[in-house]
Amino acid sequence: MTEIRPAALDPDKIKANLKTRCIAKDVIIHSCTSSTNDIAWQYTQNTKNDGVVIFAEEQTAGRGRGANKWLSGKGESLLCSVVLLDCELAAELLMLTCAVAVAEAIGRCGPYKAKIRWPNDVILNEKKAAGILLESKTKKSRTGYVLGIGVNCHQTLKSLPAEIKDAATSIDIESASVCDRNLLAKRLLVSLDDWLIVASRDSEQVLERWRELSTLLGRRVTLQYRRRRFSGNCIGVDPQKGLVVQLDRGGTRFFNAAHTTIVRQDF
Ligand code: BTN
Repeated sequence: MTEIRPAALDPDKIKANLKTRCIAKDVIIHSCTSSTNDIAWQYTQNTKNDGVVIFAEEQTAGRGRGANKWLSGKGESLLCSVVLLDCELAAELLMLTCAVAVAEAIGRCGPYKAKIRWPNDVILNEKKAAGILLESKTKKSRTGYVLGIGVNCHQTLKSLPAEIKDAATSIDIESASVCDRNLLAKRLLVSLDDWLIVASRDSEQVLERWRELSTLLGRRVTLQYRRRRFSGNCIGVDPQKGLVVQLDRGGTRFFNAAHTTIVRQDF
C-alpha cells in the first residue's frame, strides 16, 4: 500500500480566492514557534494588524485553557491564531461563535458529525478533535482578543500522546483518510469570517446553531466553577453570561467560560 504524505501548509493555497471580509487580510505561516497566540499578541501592537492570522506547523509551548498544554507533533495539526482588535462581541458570544465556526469547518471534512462541547471543544464521536483558546487584554476600555485554534488532523492512534489518547481523536482517525489541511484552513477562515459577521448582526442566529451542535444542551452535567462543583441539567446558553444550568440543589445559575470546566457529562 502506498503511503499518502500529508501536504505542508501553503500560504498560496490558503489565500487563493479567499473571500473573507473581516479576517485573514494577511495570513502568515511559521514552521516552528513557541505558541501562535504569542506571535498573534505581538501583532496586536499595531491596529492595522486587525484580522491577521498566524499558522504554525509546530509549537514548542502550545497552550490550552487553564494550565493545560496543547500537544501536537510537527505538521500533525492545524494550529492557528487570529488577531481581533475591532471586535465588539462579549467574550462569551465570541467563544460560542468561534466554536460554531470551527465545528462547521471540521464537519465539512469528513463523514462524521462535529459537535461542540461547551465552551471550547469540538468533538467527533465523543472525543476531542479541536480546542479553542480565547485570550483577551483590555486597554483604555477597548478589548483586544487573540483567538487560538488547534485542530487534530493527521494524528493516528499510535501518534496521539499517551496522556490524551483516551479522550482525543483526529480528523484522519475519524474519516479513515488523510485530510487536506490547506483546504481545512481555508474553510476555517471562511467559516469564522461568516459567523463573526452573523454574530455582530444577530447573536440569536449563532445561539440557534450552537444549540443544534451542542453536546450539553438538555443533558446532565457536573462542572467546576472556580473551586466549587455543581451538578444539574444544562438548559441553555446566554451570549453574555455563559452556560445556563438548572441545579440539582434548586435554582438556575449561569457559568462563564473563563472560570468553568466540565467535569462530567452524560451523553
Ligand atoms: C484547549 O482546548 O484547551 C484550547 C487549545 C487551543 C490550542 C491552540 S493551538 C494554536 C493556538 N496556540 C496555542 O498555544 N494554543 C492555541
